[in-house]
Amino acid sequence: MSDKPMKFKVKGSIRDLLRFKNLVKKRAKIIDAAPASFKEEPYINTLAARLHPELQHLVVREVIEETGTCKTFRLVPDGAGSRELAFFQAGQYLSVKLDVNGYRITRPYSISSSPSDALKGFYDLTIKRLEGGFATGFIWNTWKTGSAVTASGPLGQMYHAPLRDGRSIVALAGGSGVTPFRSMAREICYGRLDATLRLIYGCADDQEILFHDEFRELAKKYPDRFSFVMVMSCEETSVEGCEKGFITRSVIQKHSNPAVDSYFTCGPDVMYDFTGLELAALGVPVKRIRREAYGEIKKPLRFKDFPQSAVGRAFSINVRLKQGSVVVSASGDESVLVALERAKLAPPSACRSGECQYCRTLLVKGDVWVGPECDGRRAADRQTGYIHPCASFPVSDLEIVLPENGEVRKN
Ligand code: FES
Repeated sequence: MSDKPMKFKVKGSIRDLLRFKNLVKKRAKIIDAAPASFKEEPYINTLAARLHPELQHLVVREVIEETGTCKTFRLVPDGAGSRELAFFQAGQYLSVKLDVNGYRITRPYSISSSPSDALKGFYDLTIKRLEGGFATGFIWNTWKTGSAVTASGPLGQMYHAPLRDGRSIVALAGGSGVTPFRSMAREICYGRLDATLRLIYGCADDQEILFHDEFRELAKKYPDRFSFVMVMSCEETSVEGCEKGFITRSVIQKHSNPAVDSYFTCGPDVMYDFTGLELAALGVPVKRIRREAYGEIKKPLRFKDFPQSAVGRAFSINVRLKQGSVVVSASGDESVLVALERAKLAPPSACRSGECQYCRTLLVKGDVWVGPECDGRRAADRQTGYIHPCASFPVSDLEIVLPENGEVRKN
């Protein structure tokens, strides 16, 4: 660097300052003269809306019986509200909006078809009918060929991202939790996803197995990209070459390489708890484990730190809406979101497990319990009193302000 003193041209600096002063005026003039809207929608906005539509208006084209308790609903754009399907990443889900006798609810379901299938014009949702299931019973009874279905754009984080995940994926699936892996298997075998997939698929009996023939076919045709092993927990099974019992650490070790593989898990809560411990025992770091995080937080009492004082108690929630307020009753072992929906309010929601932030709501008064595994709030939200009603359970009377931009309806 030169140690000569810098010379300032005073005249030049003043000229520059004047230029800058005029620049501001000139810019203000141009802004005033500009039209309020774009002459043409910028391409990037159009692309963003196509990739992330708020809603998709679909119609059931076909219903495929998979097992006694699972059906695949093939959905296509209705041609009016939606002309095409949003592209997605294999492993993502749609949140479907249902109106069950005036109760406006949402339910997330994994897309079981592949992104390539979406380019051909369809999504598959494979849905298991749950015993006494409020939403699944409604879907099974009312979704027929030609039925209209409203769904969100594709959502969720359980997809292969090369910067985050290894190339070798091991999927641990339980029962109908195999649906996102059928999407991944297809995409990998079609050569559109640069990864390999080893599926370790646990089922309670032969009747529960989904897509068995398809998996066999894909494994035979693309052995270097896809393979699978069945793990049957029943005494009697006709599945040849399967493992017996559960997806234990010895099964995982036998069929994968815990030192390098990336593990993706989808299945019932009990399976997450079990396989989580088994993977930890095998030394798999948390950063190489993904789990499907959507879905209702059931049985909060199973969490060790759930406040026992709230169990069986009734609380009131004063809900401030744009058009006034309403008082809703809630029980200590149900989420705030469920209490609101039971009162026929329809706050925005998608994942129902604290992850997506769609239901972000201001808590003005009172306390809630939020499970450590389902607290997807940003630090700033935690400090400023925001909650995710889907992942919050009342431990006192509450007062909340529902988001104004949400879909809130009081029947
Ligand atoms: S619905 Fe996703 S965070 Fe509440």
